[in-house]
Amino acid sequence: MTIKTIIWKNNAVVLIDQNALPLAEKYITCKSYKEVIACIKDLTVRGAPAIGVAAAMGAALGALNLPSLSQDKFRQKFLTICDEIAQARPTARNLFWALERMKKVSDETKTNSQRHLVKELIHEARLICSDDIAINRQMGKHGSVLLADGDNILTHCNAGALATAGYGTALGVIRAAHEQGKKLHVYVDETRPVLQGARLTAWELKKEKIPHTLITDNMAGFLMQQGRIDKIIVGADRIAANGDTANKIGTYSLAVLAKEHGIPFYIAAPLSTIDVSLKTGARIPIEERNAGEVTNFKGVRSAPEGTKVYNPAFDITPARLISAIITEKGISRKPFRASITHCTKE
Ligand code: MRU
Repeated sequence: MTIKTIIWKNNAVVLIDQNALPLAEKYITCKSYKEVIACIKDLTVRGAPAIGVAAAMGAALGALNLPSLSQDKFRQKFLTICDEIAQARPTARNLFWALERMKKVSDETKTNSQRHLVKELIHEARLICSDDIAINRQMGKHGSVLLADGDNILTHCNAGALATAGYGTALGVIRAAHEQGKKLHVYVDETRPVLQGARLTAWELKKEKIPHTLITDNMAGFLMQQGRIDKIIVGADRIAANGDTANKIGTYSLAVLAKEHGIPFYIAAPLSTIDVSLKTGARIPIEERNAGEVTNFKGVRSAPEGTKVYNPAFDITPARLISAIITEKGISRKPFRASITHCTKE
Protein backbone atom coordinates (compact mmCIF):
# COMPACT_ATOMS: atom_id res chain seq x y z
CA MET A 1 0.00 0.00 0.00
CA THR A 2 1.36 3.43 -0.87
CA ILE A 3 0.23 6.37 1.19
CA LYS A 4 1.44 9.61 -0.31
CA THR A 5 2.09 11.77 2.75
CA ILE A 6 3.88 14.59 0.97
CA ILE A 7 4.87 15.21 -2.61
CA TRP A 8 6.34 17.97 -4.72
CA LYS A 9 3.98 18.46 -7.65
CA ASN A 10 3.71 21.23 -10.26
CA ASN A 11 5.85 23.57 -8.17
CA ALA A 12 3.68 23.12 -5.08
CA VAL A 13 3.77 20.98 -1.94
CA VAL A 14 0.89 18.52 -1.75
CA LEU A 15 0.09 17.06 1.68
CA ILE A 16 -2.42 14.51 2.85
CA ASP A 17 -4.59 16.34 5.38
CA GLN A 18 -3.91 14.40 8.58
CA ASN A 19 -6.48 16.44 10.50
CA ALA A 20 -9.21 15.13 8.20
CA LEU A 21 -8.24 11.44 8.65
CA PRO A 22 -9.73 8.92 9.11
CA LEU A 23 -13.06 10.45 8.06
CA ALA A 24 -11.82 11.91 4.77
CA GLU A 25 -8.80 11.25 2.57
CA LYS A 26 -8.09 14.63 1.05
CA TYR A 27 -5.03 16.56 -0.03
CA ILE A 28 -4.00 20.15 0.58
CA THR A 29 -1.88 22.05 -1.94
CA CYS A 30 0.56 24.61 -0.54
CA LYS A 31 1.71 27.22 -3.04
CA SER A 32 3.76 29.30 -0.59
CA TYR A 33 6.19 28.50 2.20
CA LYS A 34 3.90 30.32 4.64
CA GLU A 35 1.13 27.81 3.85
CA VAL A 36 3.59 24.98 4.57
CA ILE A 37 4.43 26.57 7.94
CA ALA A 38 0.72 26.78 8.76
CA CYS A 39 0.29 23.08 7.88
CA ILE A 40 3.20 22.08 10.15
CA LYS A 41 1.81 24.17 13.01
CA ASP A 42 -1.74 22.86 12.82
CA LEU A 43 -0.64 19.20 12.36
CA THR A 44 -1.93 18.83 8.80
CA VAL A 45 1.55 17.33 8.39
CA ARG A 46 3.12 15.87 11.53
CA GLY A 47 5.61 13.24 12.70
CA ALA A 48 9.30 14.11 12.87
CA PRO A 49 10.53 12.84 9.46
CA ALA A 50 7.46 14.18 7.61
CA ILE A 51 7.95 17.58 9.27
CA GLY A 52 11.57 17.51 8.01
CA VAL A 53 10.47 16.79 4.44
CA ALA A 54 7.77 19.48 4.64
CA ALA A 55 10.32 22.00 5.96
CA ALA A 56 12.72 21.25 3.09
CA MET A 57 9.97 21.48 0.46
CA GLY A 58 8.67 24.66 2.12
CA ALA A 59 12.14 26.19 1.86
CA ALA A 60 12.37 25.17 -1.81
CA LEU A 61 8.96 26.74 -2.43
CA GLY A 62 10.10 29.94 -0.71
CA ALA A 63 13.18 30.06 -2.95
CA LEU A 64 11.12 29.39 -6.06
CA ASN A 65 8.75 32.25 -5.32
CA LEU A 66 11.45 34.86 -4.70
CA PRO A 67 11.75 37.60 -7.33
CA SER A 68 14.94 37.90 -9.34
CA LEU A 69 17.65 39.16 -6.93
CA SER A 70 21.37 39.67 -6.66
CA GLN A 71 23.15 36.54 -5.44
CA ASP A 72 23.81 37.92 -1.97
CA LYS A 73 20.27 39.21 -1.56
CA PHE A 74 18.85 35.85 -2.71
CA ARG A 75 20.92 33.85 -0.21
CA GLN A 76 20.05 36.31 2.55
CA LYS A 77 16.30 36.06 1.80
CA PHE A 78 16.56 32.28 1.63
CA LEU A 79 18.12 32.17 5.11
CA THR A 80 15.28 34.35 6.45
CA ILE A 81 12.75 31.92 4.95
CA CYS A 82 14.55 28.98 6.59
CA ASP A 83 14.62 30.81 9.95
CA GLU A 84 10.89 31.39 9.70
CA ILE A 85 10.20 27.73 8.91
CA ALA A 86 12.41 26.73 11.86
CA GLN A 87 9.94 28.45 14.20
CA ALA A 88 7.07 26.17 13.15
CA ARG A 89 7.58 23.48 15.84
CA PRO A 90 10.44 23.12 18.34
CA THR A 91 10.92 19.45 19.22
CA ALA A 92 11.45 17.33 16.09
CA ARG A 93 15.16 17.39 15.25
CA ASN A 94 14.38 16.47 11.61
CA LEU A 95 12.94 19.92 10.93
CA PHE A 96 16.26 21.63 11.76
CA TRP A 97 18.31 18.88 10.13
CA ALA A 98 16.40 19.28 6.84
CA LEU A 99 16.78 23.08 6.89
CA GLU A 100 20.52 22.70 7.52
CA ARG A 101 20.76 20.50 4.42
CA MET A 102 18.88 23.10 2.38
CA LYS A 103 21.07 25.97 3.65
CA LYS A 104 24.17 23.96 2.78
CA VAL A 105 22.98 23.68 -0.83
CA SER A 106 22.30 27.41 -0.95
CA ASP A 107 25.74 28.19 0.52
CA GLU A 108 27.77 25.71 -1.49
CA THR A 109 26.21 25.64 -4.97
CA LYS A 110 28.59 27.47 -7.26
CA THR A 111 26.46 29.32 -9.78
CA ASN A 112 25.56 32.81 -10.94
CA SER A 113 22.11 31.70 -12.02
CA GLN A 114 19.25 32.02 -9.52
CA ARG A 115 17.23 29.62 -11.67
CA HIS A 116 19.92 26.98 -11.36
CA LEU A 117 20.22 27.42 -7.59
CA VAL A 118 16.44 27.13 -7.16
CA LYS A 119 16.53 23.96 -9.27
CA GLU A 120 19.21 22.54 -6.97
CA LEU A 121 17.15 23.43 -3.88
CA ILE A 122 14.07 21.70 -5.29
CA HIS A 123 16.22 18.69 -6.14
CA GLU A 124 17.58 18.54 -2.57
CA ALA A 125 14.09 18.73 -1.03
CA ARG A 126 12.86 15.91 -3.27
CA LEU A 127 15.96 13.89 -2.39
CA ILE A 128 15.28 14.31 1.36
CA CYS A 129 11.79 12.95 0.62
CA SER A 130 12.86 9.91 -1.43
CA ASP A 131 15.81 9.14 0.90
CA ASP A 132 13.41 9.03 3.84
CA ILE A 133 11.41 6.19 2.31
CA ALA A 134 14.58 4.20 1.57
CA ILE A 135 15.87 4.82 5.11
CA ASN A 136 12.60 3.61 6.61
CA ARG A 137 12.77 0.42 4.59
CA GLN A 138 16.32 -0.17 5.88
CA MET A 139 15.14 0.45 9.42
CA GLY A 140 12.28 -1.97 8.87
CA LYS A 141 14.68 -4.64 7.65
CA HIS A 142 16.98 -4.24 10.67
CA GLY A 143 14.22 -3.92 13.25
CA SER A 144 12.05 -6.77 12.01
CA VAL A 145 14.46 -9.34 13.53
CA LEU A 146 13.35 -8.11 16.95
CA LEU A 147 9.75 -9.12 16.29
CA ALA A 148 8.72 -12.77 16.47
CA ASP A 149 5.84 -14.66 14.91
CA GLY A 150 2.83 -14.37 17.23
CA ASP A 151 3.98 -11.20 19.03
CA ASN A 152 1.55 -8.73 20.52
CA ILE A 153 3.08 -5.31 20.06
CA LEU A 154 2.09 -2.02 21.63
CA THR A 155 2.69 1.27 19.82
CA HIS A 156 1.99 4.87 20.73
CA CYS A 157 1.13 7.88 18.55
CA ASN A 158 1.69 7.46 14.82
CA ALA A 159 5.15 6.54 13.59
CA GLY A 160 3.90 5.20 10.28
CA ALA A 161 3.83 6.21 6.62
CA LEU A 162 1.91 9.34 7.60
CA ALA A 163 4.64 10.47 10.00
CA THR A 164 7.31 10.08 7.31
CA ALA A 165 7.61 10.37 3.54
CA GLY A 166 6.32 6.78 3.46
CA TYR A 167 6.53 3.32 5.11
CA GLY A 168 7.17 4.61 8.65
CA THR A 169 9.70 4.13 11.43
CA ALA A 170 8.17 2.12 14.31
CA LEU A 171 5.26 1.10 12.11
CA GLY A 172 7.76 0.44 9.30
CA VAL A 173 9.41 -2.20 11.50
CA ILE A 174 5.99 -3.78 12.13
CA ARG A 175 5.18 -3.50 8.41
CA ALA A 176 8.47 -5.22 7.46
CA ALA A 177 7.90 -8.11 9.89
CA HIS A 178 4.35 -8.48 8.55
CA GLU A 179 5.67 -8.52 4.97
CA GLN A 180 8.01 -11.36 6.01
CA GLY A 181 4.93 -13.38 6.95
CA LYS A 182 5.16 -13.01 10.74
CA LYS A 183 1.75 -13.04 12.36
CA LEU A 184 1.59 -9.98 14.56
CA HIS A 185 -1.11 -8.23 16.51
CA VAL A 186 -0.76 -4.54 17.37
CA TYR A 187 -2.29 -2.75 20.34
CA VAL A 188 -2.73 0.90 19.35
CA ASP A 189 -2.70 3.55 22.07
CA GLU A 190 -5.29 6.15 21.11
CA THR A 191 -2.77 8.88 22.09
CA ARG A 192 -4.54 11.72 23.81
CA PRO A 193 -4.98 14.59 23.31
CA VAL A 194 -4.80 14.64 19.50
CA LEU A 195 -5.52 10.94 18.92
CA GLN A 196 -2.77 10.18 16.40
CA GLY A 197 -3.07 6.51 17.39
CA ALA A 198 -6.83 6.19 16.97
CA ARG A 199 -7.12 8.40 13.91
CA LEU A 200 -3.90 7.63 12.02
CA THR A 201 -2.21 4.41 13.20
CA ALA A 202 -5.48 2.45 13.23
CA TRP A 203 -6.22 3.84 9.74
CA GLU A 204 -2.83 2.70 8.42
CA LEU A 205 -3.02 -0.75 10.03
CA LYS A 206 -6.52 -1.26 8.66
CA LYS A 207 -5.32 -0.39 5.14
CA GLU A 208 -2.37 -2.75 5.61
CA LYS A 209 -4.64 -5.53 6.97
CA ILE A 210 -2.44 -5.93 10.07
CA PRO A 211 -4.57 -7.19 12.99
CA HIS A 212 -4.90 -4.51 15.66
CA THR A 213 -6.89 -3.43 18.70
CA LEU A 214 -7.39 0.14 19.83
CA ILE A 215 -7.02 0.97 23.53
CA THR A 216 -7.09 4.22 25.48
CA ASP A 217 -3.70 5.28 26.85
CA ASN A 218 -4.61 4.50 30.46
CA MET A 219 -5.30 0.83 29.62
CA ALA A 220 -1.72 0.00 28.63
CA GLY A 221 -0.50 -0.82 32.17
CA PHE A 222 -3.37 -3.24 32.76
CA LEU A 223 -2.63 -5.06 29.49
CA MET A 224 1.04 -5.39 30.44
CA GLN A 225 0.08 -6.76 33.86
CA GLN A 226 -2.14 -9.33 32.14
CA GLY A 227 0.79 -10.49 29.98
CA ARG A 228 -0.88 -9.32 26.79
CA ILE A 229 2.05 -7.23 25.48
CA ASP A 230 5.27 -8.86 24.27
CA LYS A 231 7.08 -5.80 22.92
CA ILE A 232 6.67 -2.04 22.68
CA ILE A 233 7.92 -0.04 19.71
CA VAL A 234 7.60 3.70 19.17
CA GLY A 235 9.19 6.44 17.06
CA ALA A 236 11.14 9.51 18.22
CA ASP A 237 11.17 13.26 17.73
CA ARG A 238 14.67 13.87 19.03
CA ILE A 239 17.33 11.60 20.49
CA ALA A 240 20.18 13.04 22.57
CA ALA A 241 23.76 11.75 22.32
CA ASN A 242 23.25 9.42 25.31
CA GLY A 243 20.04 7.88 23.88
CA ASP A 244 17.51 9.88 25.95
CA THR A 245 14.51 10.14 23.65
CA ALA A 246 11.77 12.71 23.15
CA ASN A 247 8.58 11.24 21.74
CA LYS A 248 4.84 11.81 22.01
CA ILE A 249 3.58 12.55 25.52
CA GLY A 250 2.82 9.26 27.26
CA THR A 251 5.88 7.43 25.89
CA TYR A 252 7.80 7.80 29.17
CA SER A 253 4.95 6.24 31.17
CA LEU A 254 4.96 3.26 28.79
CA ALA A 255 8.72 2.82 29.22
CA VAL A 256 8.41 2.82 33.02
CA LEU A 257 5.60 0.27 32.82
CA ALA A 258 7.63 -1.84 30.39
CA LYS A 259 10.54 -1.93 32.86
CA GLU A 260 8.21 -3.02 35.70
CA HIS A 261 6.84 -5.84 33.55
CA GLY A 262 10.11 -6.89 31.87
CA ILE A 263 8.87 -5.98 28.38
CA PRO A 264 11.40 -4.89 25.70
CA PHE A 265 10.98 -1.22 24.81
CA TYR A 266 12.26 -0.22 21.35
CA ILE A 267 12.73 3.13 19.61
CA ALA A 268 12.88 3.28 15.79
CA ALA A 269 14.17 6.51 14.26
CA PRO A 270 16.44 7.67 11.44
CA LEU A 271 19.86 9.16 12.22
CA SER A 272 18.41 12.56 11.24
CA THR A 273 16.42 12.46 14.51
CA ILE A 274 19.61 12.23 16.59
CA ASP A 275 20.92 15.49 18.02
CA VAL A 276 24.53 14.89 19.04
CA SER A 277 24.83 18.50 20.20
CA LEU A 278 22.74 17.56 23.26
CA LYS A 279 24.54 15.34 25.77
CA THR A 280 21.30 14.26 27.45
CA GLY A 281 17.58 14.74 26.96
CA ALA A 282 17.39 17.44 29.64
CA ARG A 283 17.72 20.25 27.10
CA ILE A 284 15.44 18.91 24.39
CA PRO A 285 12.83 21.64 23.86
CA ILE A 286 9.36 20.34 24.65
CA GLU A 287 6.55 21.93 22.71
CA GLU A 288 3.52 23.09 24.67
CA ARG A 289 0.38 23.12 22.58
CA ASN A 290 -2.85 25.02 23.03
CA ALA A 291 -5.32 24.29 25.79
CA GLY A 292 -8.12 23.60 23.32
CA GLU A 293 -6.54 20.23 22.44
CA VAL A 294 -7.25 19.13 26.02
CA THR A 295 -10.48 20.96 26.86
CA ASN A 296 -12.19 20.18 23.54
CA PHE A 297 -12.55 17.41 21.06
CA LYS A 298 -13.41 18.37 17.46
CA GLY A 299 -14.86 21.65 18.70
CA VAL A 300 -16.94 20.10 21.49
CA ARG A 301 -15.99 21.20 25.01
CA SER A 302 -15.37 18.48 27.60
CA ALA A 303 -14.05 20.65 30.48
CA PRO A 304 -15.60 23.65 32.23
CA GLU A 305 -14.89 27.09 30.73
CA GLY A 306 -11.76 28.62 32.28
CA THR A 307 -10.19 25.30 33.39
CA LYS A 308 -6.41 25.67 33.62
CA VAL A 309 -4.58 23.32 31.25
CA TYR A 310 -1.00 22.08 30.86
CA ASN A 311 -0.42 20.48 27.45
CA PRO A 312 3.16 19.30 26.78
CA ALA A 313 3.19 17.50 23.42
CA PHE A 314 6.25 15.32 24.17
CA ASP A 315 8.11 13.72 27.05
CA ILE A 316 11.61 12.36 27.53
CA THR A 317 12.30 8.67 28.04
CA PRO A 318 15.66 8.15 29.75
CA ALA A 319 18.09 5.94 27.85
CA ARG A 320 18.21 3.43 30.72
CA LEU A 321 14.58 2.46 30.01
CA ILE A 322 15.22 1.80 26.31
CA SER A 323 16.17 -1.74 25.26
CA ALA A 324 17.41 -0.82 21.76
CA ILE A 325 17.37 1.99 19.21
CA ILE A 326 16.77 0.94 15.61
CA THR A 327 18.19 3.19 12.89
CA GLU A 328 18.96 2.70 9.20
CA LYS A 329 22.44 1.56 10.30
CA GLY A 330 21.18 -1.28 12.50
CA ILE A 331 20.27 -1.99 16.11
CA SER A 332 22.04 -0.06 18.87
CA ARG A 333 22.20 -1.37 22.41
CA LYS A 334 23.41 0.26 25.61
CA PRO A 335 25.59 2.17 26.18
CA PHE A 336 23.99 4.17 23.39
CA ARG A 337 26.54 7.00 23.53
CA ALA A 338 29.22 4.82 21.93
CA SER A 339 27.02 3.41 19.15
CA ILE A 340 25.41 6.81 18.46
CA THR A 341 28.84 8.44 18.16
CA HIS A 342 29.93 5.64 15.84
CA CYS A 343 26.80 5.77 13.61
CA THR A 344 26.62 9.55 13.30
CA LYS A 345 30.33 9.91 12.46
CA GLU A 346 30.36 7.52 9.50
O1 MRU B 1 2.84 15.83 17.48
P1 MRU B 1 3.21 14.83 16.42
O2 MRU B 1 2.04 14.08 15.89
O3 MRU B 1 4.06 15.43 15.35
O4 MRU B 1 4.11 13.77 17.20
C1 MRU B 1 4.63 12.69 16.50
C2 MRU B 1 5.38 11.72 17.33
O5 MRU B 1 5.57 11.91 18.51
C3 MRU B 1 5.97 10.53 16.63
O6 MRU B 1 5.99 9.43 17.45
C4 MRU B 1 7.41 10.86 16.18
O7 MRU B 1 7.43 12.05 15.45
C5 MRU B 1 8.01 9.78 15.38
S1 MRU B 1 7.27 9.69 13.80
C6 MRU B 1 8.11 8.61 12.82
